[in-house]
Amino acid sequence: MKYDFDIIITEIKGGKYNIIGTGSSRTVYDLNDGFAVKIARDIRGTLQNESERKAYQSHRSELLAEVVAVSEDNRCLVMPKAKRIKNLSVIYNYYNKRSIKSLFMHDKLIIGDIKNNGLSSKDLSRASNWGLIDNVPLIIDYGLTHSIYKRYYGPNKLFKRFKPIQYS
Ligand SMILES: Nc1ncnc2c1ncn2[C@@H]1O[C@H](COP(=O)(O)OP(=O)(O)O)[C@@H](O)[C@H]1O
Ligand SMILES: [Mg+2]
Repeated sequence: MKYDFDIIITEIKGGKYNIIGTGSSRTVYDLNDGFAVKIARDIRGTLQNESERKAYQSHRSELLAEVVAVSEDNRCLVMPKAKRIKNLSVIYNYYNKRSIKSLFMHDKLIIGDIKNNGLSSKDLSRASNWGLIDNVPLIIDYGLTHSIYKRYYGPNKLFKRFKPIQYS
């Protein structure tokens, strides 16, 4: 699918799209067509959009939500819109497992995706990193690699401010 990200940014500024989520570094808008766009607020967001794109490009498992499009500058990433998962039991019931750990353990492909992309299985075990897409629980936030974490989210970086991206 083709997206004109300059138009999307202009439309966001014009108030056309509602915010459906905010994370540590990205704000997510409902594109009103079944898709959502993650907009980076600072360098940590562009880096996570980039690693999400790369992980999706090489993924093997069926647990990662699709990355539909990414802007060249990695500021914007489009994904199918997911419904919030409040309780991990939704995931356990669907996959018939007792824990995320056990779900991952029985899926060599997700283990490979996690290793190849330097992701944290602990981070991916939080309900907020998952969403329901067509009623299937999938991981929707998988951009936080160990190296981004270490560089930008480590212990003494928590209160550090990062230069906000100005969208004009
Ligand atoms: N594909 C999606 N569909 C619906 N909501 C989403 C989607 N991706 C993310 N969100 C919502 O937006 C929030 C922030 O997105 P996230 O990818 O976690 O950004 P960050 O990397 O900044 O934490 C999520 O916690 C979730 O509530
Ligand atoms: Mg997040």
